[in-house]
Amino acid sequence: MEKILVTGGTGYIGSHTVVELISAGYTVEILDNLCNSKESVLDKIFEITGVKPKFHKIDLLDFGALSNIFREGNFDCVLHFAGLKAVAESIAEPIMYYENNIGGTLNLLKCMKENNVNRIVFSSSATVYGDAGNGACHEDLPAGHGITNPYGRTKYMIEEILKDVSVSNPEFSATILRYFNPIGAHSSGLIGEDPNGIPNNLMPVIMRVATGEIDELSVYGNDYPTADGSCIRDYIHVVDLARGHVAALAKMRPGVKIYNLGTGRGTSVLEMVSAFERASGRKLPYKVAPRRAGDLAEVYADPSLAWQELGWKASMSIDDAMRDTLHYLELCV
Ligand code: UD1
Repeated sequence: MEKILVTGGTGYIGSHTVVELISAGYTVEILDNLCNSKESVLDKIFEITGVKPKFHKIDLLDFGALSNIFREGNFDCVLHFAGLKAVAESIAEPIMYYENNIGGTLNLLKCMKENNVNRIVFSSSATVYGDAGNGACHEDLPAGHGITNPYGRTKYMIEEILKDVSVSNPEFSATILRYFNPIGAHSSGLIGEDPNGIPNNLMPVIMRVATGEIDELSVYGNDYPTADGSCIRDYIHVVDLARGHVAALAKMRPGVKIYNLGTGRGTSVLEMVSAFERASGRKLPYKVAPRRAGDLAEVYADPSLAWQELGWKASMSIDDAMRDTLHYLELCV
């Protein structure tokens, strides 16, 4: 069976994807510097799948260590999740973001080239649609214009780098997956999202309000041109997202392919508050706050290409994701 190197494989999306890969019969090795995850995730992966993947605690910027892993690994494909992803931090520390995300990817691509590994699946983001992404996003929309932060620009730049590498090597296969808003956790309650520090994304903030660590949710704006005035996003269950990678892997061909991984359904911030209340049976304290800089009113996927070409579509709901997150955080009532 094929052997896959998963960078960032102990992280939130990486760990759920590792579980689905193992269930689909792939052999997996994980590489992670543990900057936003814990090594104990490997034990949880074992509890779920019965397999403990080989683990390398290294940083992608450590080219020597990375080369050694490649020399011994005999990988068929790389799934590249590793990267920094906090928007506000990227504005404060742009050099760190470019160095880690771009530099780390370049090291990875060098090692792939040296060892004749020609397949990569890259974790990109709907953020690359920039200001074109207001409303339904199809992969044909122009990307790269009006991205508001260095984090988003690193995602776009890596997409472009992969296209250039593909031009130089006819055997190179790159699948770029543009994620919308991943939420939820594995139904076992063993793995999920547990960000270090103060969270910025909506779901982790909702959960910290639920635990009392944050007093109330600030709803960033209620005067957008949407039905209830709050912003609309496409929240996708992380297990659906993980399965999208397995579907993409099976269909890789030389060249670059780009797919949205989203549900195609938009949900407002206030609808997310209601979903939390339905799932938990508790009220969620919130206040309306000013708009957050850089937010668009409505962003959701057109996921039809992934369905047509990969035979993949999301099957779980916001309510499933809320239930699974509450289970993971042991917040069941
Ligand atoms: C954000 C980033 C995006 C990144 C993604 C995943 C921006 C502009 N976009 O997407 O580049 O790929 O995270 O990390 O930062 N909200 C609140 N209160 C909160 C938090 C969020 O009302 O405390 C609202 C936001 O205004 C937004 C929605 O919830 O409308 C979702 O926010 P968030 O989870 O940060 O995701 P995005 O902004 O879609």
